[in-house]
Amino acid sequence: PVATTLHWHGVRVPNAADGVAGVTQDAVAPGATFTYEFVAIDAGTYWYHAHQDTAAQIAAGLFGALVVEPPGGHVAEQVDQVALLHSDVTGSAAIAVDGTTHTLHVPARPGQAVRLRIIDAVVPGMDGTAEAPALLGAPYRVVALDGHDLSGPQPLGPHRLVLGMGQRVDLVFSMPAAGSVRLVDSRVMGTPSALQGFFATPARADETVTIGDGPPPAALDPTTLPVFDPLAYGAAAPDPTTARPPDVSFPVVLAERPGFRDGSIQLVHTINGAASPDVPPLVVRPGQLVGLRMVNDSGEFHPMHLHGHVMTVLSVDGRAPRGSPVHQDTVLLSPHQTVDVAFVADNPGIWMLHCHVPLHAAMGMSMTIDYAGITSPFTMGSRSGNIPE
Ligand code: C2O
Ligand code: CU
Repeated sequence: PVATTLHWHGVRVPNAADGVAGVTQDAVAPGATFTYEFVAIDAGTYWYHAHQDTAAQIAAGLFGALVVEPPGGHVAEQVDQVALLHSDVTGSAAIAVDGTTHTLHVPARPGQAVRLRIIDAVVPGMDGTAEAPALLGAPYRVVALDGHDLSGPQPLGPHRLVLGMGQRVDLVFSMPAAGSVRLVDSRVMGTPSALQGFFATPARADETVTIGDGPPPAALDPTTLPVFDPLAYGAAAPDPTTARPPDVSFPVVLAERPGFRDGSIQLVHTINGAASPDVPPLVVRPGQLVGLRMVNDSGEFHPMHLHGHVMTVLSVDGRAPRGSPVHQDTVLLSPHQTVDVAFVADNPGIWMLHCHVPLHAAMGMSMTIDYAGITSPFTMGSRSGNIPE
């Protein structure tokens, strides 16, 4: 009964197929039709969701998993399974998996190779709560982040894999000779800010995915596990985005302050001191290597998502990756963290850069990266009917 759009999160689509109401199209009215068309150029794990009134429409269930298979067809693993973690759309505080509300069971036999594609679509509270699933019962390799393969991934024991909303991780493992493997979720909360008390994050039950049959691995408290560190994993490999310094660099400073917005007093979420739609766009030119220094000047988590491009992580709090290059479309900033990224400006258009916590984006933490000379015929705001966040 309401207007909507679809955005192909992480997929490098032409700008006109990006699905952002008020930027790349008008929201599609009830009963109307809009056709998206793009070539799926990068195999990997993605997802799609509404990008009109996003906070309400994702909460209502307008999202799904999107897997781009490699050119030859299936991946090498015999079992290829999505675990889309999301909020229970019935409104309970529990986490759901693939549209179920409880444990998902995935058939697999001893010795089979399994690829588990974990997608974090859980809507966080005001602190930006990150999910931290852990795989128990088999050593695994972390083969991809946000759909992009890691170089030389080695087997690991159980870790918490910290994911901000919108991020994905692919795990590959062999089923043990006996017993099942489990995915157990936990979460990491931000630190409260001055107004945080009004937005308590509800406690949620840990939901699991069970792969295979037989006795489960010994139960343990996932919060006691070490955290997976993508900056110290896999094998170094040459990467064109780190071979030279960026041609241009921009600060992207994330903060919050109480203020007026949309006719009420709220925690206005700002980028470089302004809130959407008043954040000045960053202007880039085709072919530039663009650096972003993202600074989290808050106690919340902010998973920052760039549309239409792939970011390379250059450093986190000054620490550069020692192993595999890390390529992501959504970079999670922990409270008070600074992350440097670079991307090649190779997809002309007007592209959103925003926090993927729907509450934060709706409260202003959203902006665009504009290719010089490109303008949009679409406008946002209640009069236009286009409300991208
Ligand atoms: Cu998954 Cu602009 O979003
Ligand atoms: Cu945020």
